[in-house]
Formats: sequence, C-alpha cells, structure tokens
Amino acid sequence: MIGKPIEKAINEQINAELYSFYLYLAMSAHFEESGFPGLARWMRAQAQEEMSHALKFFSFVHERAGVVKLVAIDQPKGQWPTALAAFKAAQAHERHITQRINTLMDKAIEAKDHATANFLQWFVKEQVEEEATVDPIVTRLEAIGDHTGALYYLDHELGKRGA
Ligand SMILES: [Fe+2]
Ligand SMILES: [Fe+2]
Repeated sequence: MIGKPIEKAINEQINAELYSFYLYLAMSAHFEESGFPGLARWMRAQAQEEMSHALKFFSFVHERAGVVKLVAIDQPKGQWPTALAAFKAAQAHERHITQRINTLMDKAIEAKDHATANFLQWFVKEQVEEEATVDPIVTRLEAIGDHTGALYYLDHELGKRGA
C-alpha cells in the first residue's frame, strides 16, 4: 500500500500532467486558429501524450491501493505572440515537469518506497525525451526568425507527427 505523503505527491503530479494536457491543447487551438495546422497537429499529439502520463499515474495510485483525488485544473494561456514564444513556453514547461519528477523521485527514495521509485524511472527517461524533442524545435524557430516561408515549411514537417 502506498504511503500518504507519496500518494499526495502523485495526486499533485496527476494534476500537473492534466495541466500539461490542457496547456498543449490550448496551444493546438491557438495554432489551428492562426493558420498553422501542422503545429496544431503536433501540439494535439503532445496533449494526448500528457493525458496518457496522467492516466499512468492514475492507474499506479490504484495499483498501490491508494486514493485518487482530482482537483481543478488551472486555466492555460490562450494566445502566444509567435510560434517561437509558444515553443519556448513548452520548453520551459517541460523543464519544470522534469524538476517535479526529480523531486517526486527524491521523496520516493527518502520514503524507501522502491515500487514508486521504480515506477518513476519511466518518467525520468520520458522527460529526457520530452526535452530532447522540444529543444531542437526552439532552435529551429530561432533560426527561422521572420522567414515566413521557412515557418510554413516547419509547419508542414511537424504536421507529419501522428495524432
Ligand atoms: Fe508529461
Ligand atoms: Fe511532457
């Protein structure tokens, strides 16, 4: 059975993953509405991944005979001045989530909760991938600057991501 402090921390992480889902869904809507269907599709796929993260934590709480407590999800921003601004916000958000996962891991180790520590290993690896996915897009958008043609090319390319 899961200890109460870890259960509470995982419930907070469920909320953080649902907020991630909401944030990327908001970015998807923003790109769809501003004429970038490829970026919209990429963000929508990203949102779906975040929902799957939330559900992984959700299932884990129940596997350990814990109690899931769902609370309100914060409202994400709805507008970003540029594609670069949105992807920079996504990058900052992923770095923040990495910190949260690391703190969660610290708590599991302190509590000698090996099952949770083992479960969290997947997320440690996933966060490396999340940051490695978004970092080069930020770099490319910085290189693109005001070149509209290059931006539409990137939109086309990122739109190939399955959703
Ligand atoms: Fe996530
Ligand atoms: Fe993520």
